[in-house]
Amino acid sequence: MHPLLERQIHKHLAPDAAEGLADFLEAVDRAYRHADDARRLVERSLDQMSNELNARLDEKLVTEAALHQEKGEQTALIKRLEEAHNQLLQSEKMASIGQLAAGVAHEINNPIGYVGSNLGTLRGYVDRLLNVLAAFEAIERELPEGAIRSRLVVVKAEADLSYLKSDIADLLTETGDGIQRVRRIVQDLKDFSHADPGEWVLADLHKGLESTLNVVNNEIKYKAKVVKEYGELPALRCLPAQLNQVFMNLLVNAAHAIENQGTITIRTGVWNEEARVEISDTGKGIPAHQLTRIFDPFFTTKPVGVGTGLGLSISYGIIQKHGGRIEVESEPGKGATFRICLPLSPSIQPELRS
Ligand SMILES: Nc1ncnc2c1ncn2[C@@H]1O[C@H](COP(=O)(O)OP(=O)(O)OP(=O)(O)O)[C@@H](O)[C@H]1O
Ligand SMILES: [Mg+2]
Repeated sequence: MHPLLERQIHKHLAPDAAEGLADFLEAVDRAYRHADDARRLVERSLDQMSNELNARLDEKLVTEAALHQEKGEQTALIKRLEEAHNQLLQSEKMASIGQLAAGVAHEINNPIGYVGSNLGTLRGYVDRLLNVLAAFEAIERELPEGAIRSRLVVVKAEADLSYLKSDIADLLTETGDGIQRVRRIVQDLKDFSHADPGEWVLADLHKGLESTLNVVNNEIKYKAKVVKEYGELPALRCLPAQLNQVFMNLLVNAAHAIENQGTITIRTGVWNEEARVEISDTGKGIPAHQLTRIFDPFFTTKPVGVGTGLGLSISYGIIQKHGGRIEVESEPGKGATFRICLPLSPSIQPELRS
């Protein structure tokens, strides 16, 4: 109790009453002090709890951010795994198809060889027979009118000799063309199955692109303007003739995809330690459901006789042999981009290690 208050109480009250009031006030005072202590305790506890809650909230936020990041990393990992899986599937498929192709090419090679050579001999025989026939016809014209001459006329008419003479040449030419086509397919199949690796040399891909453009100029000049966005490319250890074949397939495909007039853009350069050659066209594009099939041998959307469906599968094999990969991006109606990515470092090229 405050000393002034205590003095006033003793001054105005009888000693007994003053003592009682002083005790009472002391008790009230104590009760207030207890209540204050209790309130401060509760306040301190509340403060402490609030701090703990805030700390836990912060911790939760940090954990959530870490979980979020982990989820992102997992999604990226799953995507990379899926890509690797697809690539593995594709290369396994290509390897087994390569073996099959090599077998088929080998089996066809022999018969087509003797059919071709027999056709050449047959052509010679037919020419000789036609010469003999011409001689007989000359003699026939000298024959007097009579039974023999009329019989010859009838026999010739029955056999439709004049038609036979003109058609036999067409038949032989068509058959020759057919055999040529089969030979080309067999050669393509052999290339596809890496039967003939050629020679590894250091080569300038730009030179290869230029010479290939010269070769296919006829196919593309009426359809497309060629835009060259050449960057820097170091000389690469490669099989130049085979890479040219890849460029040719991609350029011809690009030209075929353009219905009227369009542009073919060739971009080159080094990105992410890889040499890249991109061939884009403004053609009709490729529907999503076909994107997974275009590298399959014999997959073609072109009419019979125009495409064999081997161009991309051969290209795929060649690029794989170089330790690289082919990527494609396309949307129907928006053209297509084929990207060849080749390793700069020879150590990645399996053939070069040996
Ligand atoms: N740039 C492109 N734009 C649109 N479709 C394309 C393109 N390149 C390829 N394709 C599609 O992929 C298919 C397969 O191509 P690929 O080069 O393997 O065979 P092809 O061109 O049909 O025949 P070929 O054996 O004569 O090359 C084509 O028929 C076509 O449908
Ligand atoms: Mg093609």
